[in-house]
This record gives sequence, structure tokens and C-alpha cells, in this order.
Amino acid sequence: MAEYQTYSHDVLVIGAGGAGLRAAIEAAAGGGKVGLVCKSLLGKAHTVMAEGGIAAAMGNVDDRDNWKVHFADTMRGGQYVNNWQMAELHAKEAPDCVRELEAWGALFDRTKDGRILQRNFGGHRYPRLVHVGDRTGLEMIRTLQDHGIHQGIDVFMEHSILTLLKDDGRVVGAFGYDSERGRFHLFKAKAVILATGGIGRAFKITSNSWEYTGDGQALAYDAGAELIDMEFVQFHPTGMIWPPSVQGILVTEAVRGDGGVLLNSEGRRFMLDDIPENYRAQTADNEEEGWRYTQGDRNARRPPELLTRDHVARCIMREVRDGRGSPHGGVFLDISWIKRKIPNSEQVIIKKLPSMYHQFKQLADIDITKEPMEVGPTTHYMMGGIRVDAESQESTVPGLFAVGECGAGLHGANRLGGNSLSDLLVFGKRAGAYAARFAKEHQFGRIDDNALETASRTALEPFATNGAAQVESPYQIQQELQEMMQDQVGIVRMHADMERALEGIARLSDRARRVRVTGNRQYNSGWHTALTLRSMFIVSEAITRSALERRESRGAHFREDFPGPDPSHAKFNLAVGKDSGGGMQVRQAPIPEMRSDLRQVIEEMK
Ligand code: FUM
Repeated sequence: MAEYQTYSHDVLVIGAGGAGLRAAIEAAAGGGKVGLVCKSLLGKAHTVMAEGGIAAAMGNVDDRDNWKVHFADTMRGGQYVNNWQMAELHAKEAPDCVRELEAWGALFDRTKDGRILQRNFGGHRYPRLVHVGDRTGLEMIRTLQDHGIHQGIDVFMEHSILTLLKDDGRVVGAFGYDSERGRFHLFKAKAVILATGGIGRAFKITSNSWEYTGDGQALAYDAGAELIDMEFVQFHPTGMIWPPSVQGILVTEAVRGDGGVLLNSEGRRFMLDDIPENYRAQTADNEEEGWRYTQGDRNARRPPELLTRDHVARCIMREVRDGRGSPHGGVFLDISWIKRKIPNSEQVIIKKLPSMYHQFKQLADIDITKEPMEVGPTTHYMMGGIRVDAESQESTVPGLFAVGECGAGLHGANRLGGNSLSDLLVFGKRAGAYAARFAKEHQFGRIDDNALETASRTALEPFATNGAAQVESPYQIQQELQEMMQDQVGIVRMHADMERALEGIARLSDRARRVRVTGNRQYNSGWHTALTLRSMFIVSEAITRSALERRESRGAHFREDFPGPDPSHAKFNLAVGKDSGGGMQVRQAPIPEMRSDLRQVIEEMK
């Protein structure tokens, strides 16, 4: 049996982005001992990539905004397959969560009369995104971290979890290793919260950094939990595309929220060609009016660049496919027009979008105040994930909670920008509170030594010096998987491609058995990559199987062979779990009928 160190916590939180930190703070407030494990350094989280703001109906810029409008926008954005109970809680609780964050020290841009400023974003009816320039996620992480470290939480940085441990059907801990020395660690816990983020690294072009390999979703699946909505992967319309080394890095939607327009190679605002008929009369067709809209002018009409992300991403793909793309295979995003046409606006771009200004200047030698950016879609966010109870965030396995991007339900088929940050505040708080309560009601469980033995033995297999006839590289397998998912299960999907992808995943996981690494266990990135392959296979298979099963186009899931929505498909989510033989199965999970008062809200908002 391999050696390991043992720790005991009432609540163990796995993942330390915004969701994990917020959950850990709340669990600690419940009085129990809390452990927080993160694969990377504390503070290095995809939360910082939600640059443009936190969606919360505070009504500071437009007093017509309220929770009902936010609820209706979220449901419409998600194409009505959202968990409506979560959408209600989220819309109602987000403003207080923002105020709480401010009380903990978060700084936000202000209106002239000193209230928190809010900006427009795609799919939100009114200016709703609380922000600080284009660094909102960073400010959120800074605040939660500063507040969190005073709550007596034990932090384990650069620790990865290999498996969740169960006793009598409930989760009772986790087993993993640290990157620094490669030693094993046993975390006993009365309740476990997964907050590991998304799956972007399963695709070739992504805004996600190396950590986002679907670990939480895979750990939960292996522990017997259900996943849902795995077919809904968000491709953010604007990532950098040039130079190749920076491909995928996010270009915040705030650029469009603050007046940026999308142009094709002919200089045409192609989004004007694609406005749904019922939206046309409300759409600004000149930059100046769009600009007035972004400045909060109630009489101005909304620019078409602020349609939902799925819609904008597909329009960009169409321009590229039809030969009207930019030199490197994207389109142009131009905010420099403001300087030319709006008097006294010189400082606006740098003041409102400081990170974008520096990002393009330093990485692409482009001055965005003078010339357009080249952008294209990038895999950004996973709407699907671990199926949870709306109130408590508990998964279908007792004692196991999930929150943030690795949980699922709130966003349905497509997430509105900014709803991720409010999601993790609202449901991070809830998950922490409910996990702390669960921990109070339960004792530590029994740890199964055989499970530890199996996990440690499997983890060390890539170091074996014999047994593999033909050795494989973990990086090669990872790269082939990413390319295949990008090409065959990407923005535009087809039955035959996805069938091929399933076969490809099976072939690659077979080859992964022969992965071998050199060196020792200390900071061995090859070993680390080898150990994440399993998670990537599980999420890739779940995405592909679900996408095959949803024979329609809805939100972020677009099928060329079924290009429209099918109303009968609005009645269910697709749930992924293990069958009795250990294989993956997908079932239709009916969506519970919406409460009549909420149905009425949606009707009113239409
Ligand atoms: O474009 C952005 O700033 C991203 C925001 C989000 O994903 O919520």
C-alpha cells in the first residue's frame, strides 16, 4: 500500500475559483472545519475570465430592471430547458450577493451619483452587469481570497484529486496527490463540494487554461452521480485568433457591451443581416445609436452585436465559411470607431477596457483604440455538468455537492454573459451552507483501504517500466482528443461526425492505457497530464453522446442535420449516468412543470 498523509474536515471543497471560495467561506461560517483543495495556485481560476461583469438586477442604471426581468432573460437565453427553480433563486438573490461582496471590499465602477455602475451584455434586457473595467472576475477572486483566508480554512494548493471515497452510498472523502512532491493524500470529510470548473481543455481552441479538464464532472460520474445538459458547450464568439500562440484567449463581451461592432472582410456589420424579425424594430443599425444605448439612453435601440453568444458565434462561423472572414480565419471587432465619431471619447476605451488594450498591445501588437481586433469563437464555458438540487446544490449522491461551472441547471442551453459570476456567488453560498448542515448531521464515514490501494496503483501505472508493447505520450493523446472534439463535436455538429468522434474517443482511451512518462513524481507535468486523460475522456464521451441524442438545434447545441428547435425537445434535459455494466448511458429527464406565477412572469416579459 502506498504511503499517504491523512486530514479530516467537516466540509472539503475541491476547487478554489469563485465558486469554491464562496462555498468554503459559507461552510466555515457554519462553524465546521473546512478544507480547500486546488489543483493550481490559489487565485488562478477561470473566474478571472468572466471579465465583463456580474449579472444582478440592481436597477442602478435602468430602474425598470428587477428579478423578474432577469429571470425571464435567463430562461429565454437558456431556451427554456434551464432548471427554473435555480433561475428564480439566482435572479432574486444575486443583488444581495453583490452587496455582500462589496461589503467584503470589492471595488466596482460607479454611476455619476455614486451607485454601482452596470453595463449591457448580450441577452440582458437592461444594463445589468456590475463591473470594474474589464477585470471583474479578478476583483471577485481577490475579494473572496482576502476574505476567505481569515476564515480559518485549510488551503491545499497544487493538490489534485484522483477519486472520491464512498461509504454506504454517501461520499466520505477524497484521495489525491500533490504536484510538488507527488505524495498521496487522504482527505476524510463529512461532506464534499465540487467546484472544479469547466471542461474547455477537451477542445483545441479555448479560453480555459490547463486546469479545466472536467475533473469534477468525471469524479462525480465515477462516484455514481448524474450529469445533465452535457451537449451544451458555450463557444464564446470572441477569442483572439492571431498570433497562433494566443489563439482562444478571451476578448471580453464588454467590448461589444461598450460599443464594439463586428465587421466582415467587406467592412459590413454582418450581424445586421441576422436579426430575428421580432427583434428588428428594436435594433440599432448605426454605431452612434448603439453607442447611446450602451451609455444607458433609454430611447436608443440595442446593437445586434448583443444578441446571445450562441447566435453571434454562428454568424461569425457563417462569415468565415462564406469567404468573408479576416486574414486569419475570424472576423473584425472594432471599437476604434468611437474615437473617430464620438467627440471627447478618447479615454473611454482605455478606461473601460484596460485589460483588452494591454492584451492586444502586448500579445498582438494591435492598438485597439486605432485598429480593429481579429476575433473568432473560443470554447469558453460548460452549461452542462453535475446534476444538483436547486436549493442545496446536493448532487444525486448524498454528501456530494457541486457548484459553479461543474454544477449544472441554471443556464439551460446557453448561458448569458455575467450569469456565471452571479451563479457562483448565489449557489456557492447555498452549497457552503447546505454542506455545513449536512456535515453537522453526519459522522465521518469508513474509509475503504481497497479504494485507496486501487487509486494509488492506477495513478502510478504511467511510471511502469514494462507491460506496454508500444508506449504512448500523454500529450499526443490529449492533443488528438482536443482536435477531434473541436472538428467533430464543435460549434456545428452532424450525426456522422459525432459517431466518428465516439469511435475516436474509444480508440484514444484504449491507447491511453499504454501511456508512459519519464522522470520522478516531483512536478512531473507529463504524469499530471496522463492522470487527467480519464476525466477528459469521460466528459468528451458525455458531450458527444448527449449531442447525438438531442436531435434538434437549441442554444449552444447546433446540428446541421436538425437545424431548428423541436418543441418536443423542450420538455426534457438529457441526463448521463452509468448503466449496470459500468458503461455510459443517456436518458431523457423530464423538466418539471414551471410554477404558474413564474410562467406568468415569462409571458409578461415577452
Ligand atoms: O466576455 C466576458 O467578459 C465573459 C463573461 C462571462 O463569461 O460571463
